[in-house]
Amino acid sequence: RRPLVVAIDGPAASGKSSTAKWVARELGLRHVDSGSLYRAATAAALRTEPESARWTEASVLAAAAPIHLVPGETTFHPHLGDEDLEFVIRGKDVTSHVSQVAQMPAVRAWVNRQVQATAEGHPIVVDGRDMGTAVFPQARVKVFLIADPWERARRRLVQRLQRAPEEAEIAAEVDALTQRDAKDEAQTQQASDAVLIDTTYLTQEEQVERIVALARAAL
Ligand code: C5P
Repeated sequence: RRPLVVAIDGPAASGKSSTAKWVARELGLRHVDSGSLYRAATAAALRTEPESARWTEASVLAAAAPIHLVPGETTFHPHLGDEDLEFVIRGKDVTSHVSQVAQMPAVRAWVNRQVQATAEGHPIVVDGRDMGTAVFPQARVKVFLIADPWERARRRLVQRLQRAPEEAEIAAEVDALTQRDAKDEAQTQQASDAVLIDTTYLTQEEQVERIVALARAAL
């Protein structure tokens, strides 16, 4: 039997994590955000060595070793020892260094093992770049979310600023997103059997409904 996994992939700020969390709540499943582990590894690496030019695959892996996922209400949070990293990993410093860490094959293998372990014995909703390909090639449900860059930037800013962003702010955010997309391109893979959903003109509720319907039909 194919594992009870709903895999949601897509580029930065495509709404994967918030959508995945909501889908998990609707279905009564747990949610794993694979990007949170790349971010947590980056946060740990920054604490050990602030100068990222000095990072090696081995040093990042050593810094990340004590990180583990702890189940929260719906979403697993990365912890470093007793410390919940969920807040620090959303900071600018982590975001600007995470693509460097995500290119390290040993780090990818470490993240993939952590994520796969959460699915043992529990159905999960998981989001990332390669969940439907590298990590869960047999996932029961696979979705690939895309959206127009302007709309992705606008949504991200509304979330961050809690107000309607100005055009110049959106333009700057489009640049930042496009740069991260370019760095993450090699990692971002649409599975041939994934359902492609363009969310540009969908509300979050509509996206969630579509995925929940796919999942109910398949699980
Ligand atoms: O999704 P989020 O923006 O939190 O992901 C942070 C970074 O982690 C991405 O920019 C990417 O470099 C990396 N990532 C990845 N593969 C995944 C999830 C995230 O390479 N499955």
